[in-house]
Amino acid sequence: MSRQLFGNARIYTPVDEGRPRAGKAQNELAHWPQGALLVENGLIVALGDEREVLAMVSPAEKLAEVDCGGRCLVPGFVDPHTHMCFAEPREAEFALRLTGTPYLEILRQGGGILSSVRSLVAAGEDELYEKTLRRVATALRFGTTTLEIKSGYGLDTANELKMLRVIDRVAKEGVADVVATFLGAHAVPPAYRDNPAGFIDMVIEEMLPAVRRQGVARFCDVFCEEGVFSVADSRRLLAAAGAMGFGVKLHADEVHDLGGAGLAAELAAVSADHLLAASEANLGAMAAAGTIAILLPATAYSLRKPYAKARTMIDRGLPVALATDCNPGSSFTESMPFVIGLAVLNMRLTPAEALTGATLNAAYGIGMADRVGSLDKGKQADFLLLDGETPAILAYHAGVSSVAAVYKKGQKIKCIPSGGAFTREIQ
Ligand code: NIG
Ligand code: FE
Repeated sequence: MSRQLFGNARIYTPVDEGRPRAGKAQNELAHWPQGALLVENGLIVALGDEREVLAMVSPAEKLAEVDCGGRCLVPGFVDPHTHMCFAEPREAEFALRLTGTPYLEILRQGGGILSSVRSLVAAGEDELYEKTLRRVATALRFGTTTLEIKSGYGLDTANELKMLRVIDRVAKEGVADVVATFLGAHAVPPAYRDNPAGFIDMVIEEMLPAVRRQGVARFCDVFCEEGVFSVADSRRLLAAAGAMGFGVKLHADEVHDLGGAGLAAELAAVSADHLLAASEANLGAMAAAGTIAILLPATAYSLRKPYAKARTMIDRGLPVALATDCNPGSSFTESMPFVIGLAVLNMRLTPAEALTGATLNAAYGIGMADRVGSLDKGKQADFLLLDGETPAILAYHAGVSSVAAVYKKGQKIKCIPSGGAFTREIQ
């Protein structure tokens, strides 16, 4: 395969120095105003100033050249927290929330996540695959080239395994890199209504071994929240999961400050996600433990809650990543540009901090930084061309996507979301 040269680009990327970028380093991007990217077999072999990259190519070599037209070129987004595998939206519930019924009250009444469980259990695998793939296609169109998808709408062994099979099928479709997370403890199913600890016992004894045998999920997550799973139950589950070889994550302090962030630090979790209500002491403990804060501003937006204290987190040295949380309840969006806009304008991240959060730190948050998340030599040529001069365009041009072209492993991706199909164009 001939090599490809993407030239005449304004390149911006975080640089991977072997760890997530925290503190001041989250704000630092490498930048070449007249840059070029050299790609071979889908991998980056060189990038930098266009003249310097061209000097590395023999004049006799037939290169496939792409003129980026002076557009901004950034790494493909990594969305490290989604619940994209679900059967039906919950529009009626959205209307209820708009008239004042709290999110957790809807769950307490047997709706919310439990309503998604009912529709997922009823859905066939092919249907679920088509629907999930369509959402992944939408995400791709908005620049997401790698994403995490969680189970958690099955809540019994058979249906959790079914979800993970569907997620695996989407992963094998191959157009986006997909990482699967087991979230069997996402809500307390009705049969265990008064006995969440008993449900956790079942998850540990029955589900975790079955999920491990199936071999799809890399991480185990839990919804640690008032009226869902306590810190003690979450600790038991994640300790067992960690001992079985899963990376551990938590939905922590999303609505109440239960101490989930502190538990994440105690377990040296890969990430603690949400953190809207997390205490400053526990955030400090997370920074010391090296746990990544995955923030989901579209959830605060949709739930009309105060945003996570991203500025404090960055100032305290916590690496911050950004994600959509795409799910039918608390945050229905596949759009990382929307999330970046909220992060910049409502959480006061700089555009550079937001880009690092949506790419490299997110890749670390799902164990994918060896392959994606930055434009570094040896990584996949996953990148975007933006209709703008700097990454700030993503927040500045609001309500639309500035993502003009999406490349995965050097191939331009065209998404036809209505058919859930993809075509790849080789340039
Ligand atoms: O991250 N909080 C728990 N899980 C999701 C919402 C899932 C749903 O409502 O379907 C979240 O907000
Ligand atoms: Fe979530």
